[in-house]
Amino acid sequence: MPRDLRSEKTPLNAESLASPPYVNPLTLANDKNPKMKELRPYCLLLNESDLDDCDWLEHAAFDPNEAASREKLEYRLVTCGELCSGIFASAYQTNPDPIGSVIRSRKFPSVDSAHSDRKRVLLGHIIATKSTSDKVTDGSMSFPTDWRTNYRLDPPNGHHEEGDTICLHSLCVHPSFHKRGLGAVLLKGWTQRIRDAGLGKRIALICHDYLVPFYERAGFKKIGPSACQYGGGNWIDMIMEFDEPGQNASW
Ligand SMILES: CC(C)(COP(=O)(O)OP(=O)(O)OC[C@H]1O[C@@H](n2cnc3c(N)ncnc32)[C@H](O)[C@@H]1OP(=O)(O)O)[C@@H](O)C(=O)NCCC(=O)NCCS
Repeated sequence: MPRDLRSEKTPLNAESLASPPYVNPLTLANDKNPKMKELRPYCLLLNESDLDDCDWLEHAAFDPNEAASREKLEYRLVTCGELCSGIFASAYQTNPDPIGSVIRSRKFPSVDSAHSDRKRVLLGHIIATKSTSDKVTDGSMSFPTDWRTNYRLDPPNGHHEEGDTICLHSLCVHPSFHKRGLGAVLLKGWTQRIRDAGLGKRIALICHDYLVPFYERAGFKKIGPSACQYGGGNWIDMIMEFDEPGQNASW
């Protein structure tokens, strides 16, 4: 006998109606920021096929002593790409600058085979790993160089699949597209996805002093000076605990 799906349906009650509706951060940001609207950006998970674009973007956005090496990016995209997100725009090289000139500057993947001259441009990315420590450490910023030949669930450094802390190692936006809200919208969509998918208990990151207000607006709490010496040190620990009430983004 076929299942009577209608009898199994849960009726709407006060509790289900009270749960907060899903907010699409891109819709909000597009309304607030006309410069972002022009780009029609969209977010996607990243994987190994995005390595060229992530490597290019990482080195365009960060100081050379802070940018992750291509090898480290490859390790992170292969090992835990589900923790990484990109914000993209699709455009032609004839589009007005800055996106037109960015497309003319190097080779980008096509959006699909039917539109080979319509390119998909990575405008910003978030690259992350998991850690068993509740803060970002120099060990979590590093990676095991033999990771391709020696898979370990509990490696000496790098990504720990069993960890509860998602370490955000790299958030960056191409310098030609700063101050359009792309960094904020990418971060907001990513934190929401990580939280809703139950991928960990908290997000940890290190940043320089001047970016503390930016991350506080996204719902992170300033912890204090970090012990990390990566890229010369002088970092601040920031944490977003998922089970701590009242820790919400304010934008
Ligand atoms: C930080 C970064 C991702 C922000 O991206 P963005 O798309 O320009 O950010 P948004 O437009 O969403 O938000 C802009 C806000 O970022 C903050 N911000 C960005 N750069 C800043 C800087 N150099 N000094 C102080 N605040 C800064 C400000 O709060 C700014 O708000 P304002 O415009 O009202 O001053 C981008 O500047 C970047 O890629 N920087 C280089 C890489 C980096 O340092 N990443 C952070 C690693 S922890």
